[in-house]
Order: sequence, then C-alpha cells, then structure tokens
Amino acid sequence: MPGQCIVGLQWGDEAKGKLVDILTADMEIVVRYQGGANAGHTVVVGDQKYVLHLIPSGILNSNVKNVIAPGVVINPVTLIEEIEGLESRGIDVSAQLLLSDRAHVVFPWHVAEDKLWEESTMDETDENIGTTLRGIGPCYRDKVGRRYAIRLGDLLQDTFPQKVASICEFKSRLLAKTGSEIKLDPQEICEQYSTIAERLQPMVMNTTNFLLDAVDQDRRILFEGAQGALLDIDHGTFPFVTSSNSSGVGIASGSGIPPRFVSKSIGVLKCYNSRVGGGPFPTELENDIGELIRKRGNEYGSTTGRPRRCGWFDAVAARYSARLSGIDSLALMMLDVLSTVGDINICTHYELNGEKIDAFPSHVDDLRAVKPIYETVPGWEQEITSAKSQDDLPPQALAFIDRISQLVGCPIEFLSVGPDRAQTIHCDLQRPLVGKA
Ligand code: GDP
Ligand code: IMO
Ligand code: MG
Repeated sequence: MPGQCIVGLQWGDEAKGKLVDILTADMEIVVRYQGGANAGHTVVVGDQKYVLHLIPSGILNSNVKNVIAPGVVINPVTLIEEIEGLESRGIDVSAQLLLSDRAHVVFPWHVAEDKLWEESTMDETDENIGTTLRGIGPCYRDKVGRRYAIRLGDLLQDTFPQKVASICEFKSRLLAKTGSEIKLDPQEICEQYSTIAERLQPMVMNTTNFLLDAVDQDRRILFEGAQGALLDIDHGTFPFVTSSNSSGVGIASGSGIPPRFVSKSIGVLKCYNSRVGGGPFPTELENDIGELIRKRGNEYGSTTGRPRRCGWFDAVAARYSARLSGIDSLALMMLDVLSTVGDINICTHYELNGEKIDAFPSHVDDLRAVKPIYETVPGWEQEITSAKSQDDLPPQALAFIDRISQLVGCPIEFLSVGPDRAQTIHCDLQRPLVGKA
C-alpha cells in the first residue's frame, strides 16, 4: 500500500518537519495537503538549518517529487522567496516541486483582513486567536465563499486582471468601512502576481491526476500534515484553531487521494505541550518550569518568532487526537528537553465541574474550565542528546515514554533526542520499552 502520513497531534510545532525529512529517504513523493505559510517546519542537517513554510519537507532529498496539493493556500510571493532561498543553497527546487492549479491564492487583501480581524475585539473579555497574520483564514473564507476567490490556475488566464480589479474594488470598500488604511492597487498586484506566475508555470499542474496515477502505480507517498490535530477547524479547540482540517481527516479532501490509500499514520508528539497564540491550554505552566522548558526546547515560533506557551504533556488531548487521526504509531520528540527538569507530570484526566473525565471536551468553555489531573513520574538528570538506541536512555526516560504510549494507546516508533537528523532513535515495535525483551 503506497500512502503513509505524518500528523501533528498537539497544537502544531511537534517537529513534524524533522520526521518528514527522515522518512522521505524511503519515499518517492511527499505531499503538503492543507494550511499554507502559517506552517514553519524545521529540518536540521549538520550545521545546516532549513525552515520550510510552503514547500514540503521532502525537498532536501533530490530524488523525491514534492507536491503542493489543492487543499493548500499559496502566497506566490512567499513561495518564490522560499524557492529562491533553497536554490541559493544548492537545492534544485523547480525540478522537484509540483503545484496544484486548484490551490487557492493568498493576496494582499487577505493579509490585511487577517490583521484587521486580529486587531478587532468583540469586548474586553475577548481573546484573540493570535493568528500568524499570513492571510490564511481570509483566503480559506474566500475559497468557501467562492465569489472572490482566485486559484493558482487562474493567474495566467486572460480574465485575471479583470478579476483582480473587481475584487480590489470590493475589498477596498469593505476594508475602508472597517477602518483599514490599506490601499489596494490592482495593477501593481496584477503585475507582481503575473510575473511570479510565469516563473511558477512549469511547476503548475493537475496534481490530483498525478497523485491518483501514482497510487495506481503503487508509488510510495508521504503526506505531510501542517499544524496539529488540536488546531483542526472542525475537530480542534474552536475558535482557537486554524482554517483547515489539520488532523488526519484532512488528507483525503486536501490531496484528492481516497482515505483507503493511506495505510499507515504516524502521530507526532512532543513529550510536553506547547501552543502559540490564544486559546485554552489546560496543562500550561506559567512558572519557572514552563520557562525552563521554553529555554531548553528553544520554543519560539519558526514562522513568527513568538515565544511558545509551554506545559506538561496532556494525554487526554493526545489520546483524542490519535483516535481522530487513526494513528498507528507515535514519534515522541524533544525528549532531551526534559532532562534536568526534575519530576515530570503527565495529565491523565481532567476534572470538569467536580467530575473526573477522560474525554476531550468539544466546547472551548469546558476546556477552559477543566483542571488537569496529574500523575507524577521521576525525571532524569543526565543529558541524552547522543543516545543512539533505547538502550542508551535512562530507565526513568523509558518508563515515562512507556507510560505515554499506554495512555495515548499507540506504540512508540520514533524517539527524538535533538534537532539533527542523526538524533533520532528508531524503536523496534516488537520490543517492549520497559522490562525484558
Ligand atoms: P514542526 O512545525 O512540527 O515541523 O516543528 P517546528 O520546526 O516548528 O518546531 C520544532 C523545533 O524543534 C525545531 O526548531 C526543530 O529543529 C526542533 N527539534 C526537533 N526535534 C527535536 C528534539 O528532539 N530535541 C530538540 N531539542 N529540538 C528538536
Ligand atoms: P506548524 O505546521 C503552531 C496557530 C496560530 C494561531 C492559530 C491560527 O509549523 O506546526 P492561522 O495563521 O493559521 O490562522 O493561526 O493557529 N498556528 C500554528 N501554531 N504551528 C503551526 O504550524 C501553526 N499554524 C497556525 O498560532 O494560534
Ligand atoms: Mg512549526
């Protein structure tokens, strides 16, 4: 069976990019199927660090095709910058990248709307979503609204200038009414986007047919999720989510490949939790331990540079995400970050209105109201960044990992002890983590 997927099971930044890069060695095609340049996926190879926003993290392997599928929203200006950045480092992106003509395009009005919506608050208790300000939500909104949407395949059509002119006219009126001072110049936008479109044209194609053919030919495909399951528009912590189906459920709709062709799903988890932007976070640590984790994990956004909120591992949320995304095995990342932190808490249940629950609530107010119930396990003092196998890990670390696996209900397949490709342990699924083999 050809398809595997990598899905983040928390609120994003689980180190999906690192894992995709590693698994790409056995793949022929890597596909980004949702989200846009709100994503920041980091791959570290020796002294080289790459942060990918739109381009799939398989791009560093020269014999792999990388596909941006219809469910992604593309800002061509960002994309061309990313392509140029990689090409200046010797990567032949244009030979490896395929772009769906169905993907929707992010325009300056989307970025302006994103900023405006973020700045507007309904009342003094209102919490901002804290978006990445990349115009993602407004672009998806126009896609669903249809009337004012433009797809990649439209950019070189004769009708493009007229479309831009009428959308600019409409959006300018709308933005002016809501207090925005942005000036949209249709001619300038048209020229900029048409010039970029000419350069992208050789990569633009019907990727749906390409992928359906690839499935028929049994080619090995890796689907790279962006964001994480808890940010899923339908199944996440709404309204503090992104605008696409960022859990495993989004693969089929975003790529055009039926679900039955994804035969293996790997869920990526940090061994603690982090979140950027607003929204409830039951296990958040607003104290020295949270600060220590942020510092040790270098928890600052790959896209926006914002400090990430940090907290203990939330097994209630992770179990929900894993079930939602049909996860077969887990990759547990950032294990090195917890060295020296002392005893470690794992949230096994929540208390809601005096009741102990283990189901992840669907309403944001309930999630805000829950109190985490913790189990405490011993930590470990030694640094583990050079561990090469599970035998090199302290027993406390193995017991902690084993407990996470039990609570989430999936076996552990990968462990990560540092950002580099080489700092990865591939676990034998047949061998218990704790006790005798
Ligand atoms: P993604 O969006 O899920 O791909 O994750 P990000 O790239 O936004 O954030 C993950 C960060 O952790 C990046 O800076 C990685 O280089 C780094 N990283 C990945 N794995 C590990 C690990 O095991 N330990 C440490 N300390 N850092 C890691
Ligand atoms: P990767 O793929 C972490 C968050 C934003 C905000 C919310 C909505 O690197 O894991 P948006 O700009 O999408 O409308 O913002 O979603 N967010 C992410 N958080 N990692 C990401 O991507 C994210 N992409 C969006 O911080 O809270
Ligand atoms: Mg990221």
